[in-house]
Amino acid sequence: MEGEGKDRKADFLDLARTRRSIRRYRPDPVEREVILNVLEAARWAPSAVNSQPWHFIVVTDPATRQRLAEKARVLFLRWRHLASAPVVIAVIGDPRCSRWFTVDCSLAGANLMLAAHSLGLGTCWVGGFSQADIREVVGVPEHLEIVGLITLGHPDESPKPPPRLPLERLVSWERFEPGSAASRGERFRLSGLYSLRKRLVRLVRSRRKG
Ligand SMILES: Cc1cc2nc3c(=O)[nH]c(=O)nc-3n(C[C@H](O)[C@H](O)[C@H](O)COP(=O)(O)O)c2cc1C
Repeated sequence: MEGEGKDRKADFLDLARTRRSIRRYRPDPVEREVILNVLEAARWAPSAVNSQPWHFIVVTDPATRQRLAEKARVLFLRWRHLASAPVVIAVIGDPRCSRWFTVDCSLAGANLMLAAHSLGLGTCWVGGFSQADIREVVGVPEHLEIVGLITLGHPDESPKPPPRLPLERLVSWERFEPGSAASRGERFRLSGLYSLRKRLVRLVRSRRKG
């Protein structure tokens, strides 16, 4: 029994460490049974006072996914994987259920993404969109909120793990230790925004030289 417990621990750590945000997908569809399986994992997420303030819209229709990809954006950034993934799951929260609805829905999303990874499928949480733009595409009424869009499908890439802060910069024991908490600068230098900025600077420099 003890050995079995250890294996399960190792399995879960491995699963958590190796899950990546996947932005390239093979076109093969995902079976309904498999979609229901990952949704089942989401259903068992914890929620404040067990309010379960979530609803999931499973989008497989290519035209709707295309519209999602056209509408979801932050400034000039767009998410083409909303169109190329065979499935997009919109995680909808009900703010009337509890003030923690976004936390609850995010926990459900995390369960879903790890379950998908355990089945060899890829996912990516997409949060870069405006409510108004996406609401209309999937018909979400005003009193509900789209907490996130999750792409789901067979991965067509295996990205390198983006850097993570070491535990020493993330953990205090017993009381908050100011020196041990990562600064905003440290966090920024590991973030996707920082690498995007570096890429832009390099592009501008090479254009100037050329
Ligand atoms: C709240 C949230 C919003 C995100 N929004 C986007 C997004 O709009 N587009 C995208 O491509 N990835 C998005 N991601 C994925 C992150 O970029 C990704 O999780 C991060 O770079 C770490 O990479 P990893 O998931 O492979 O470990 C989002 C993730 C979270 C948790």
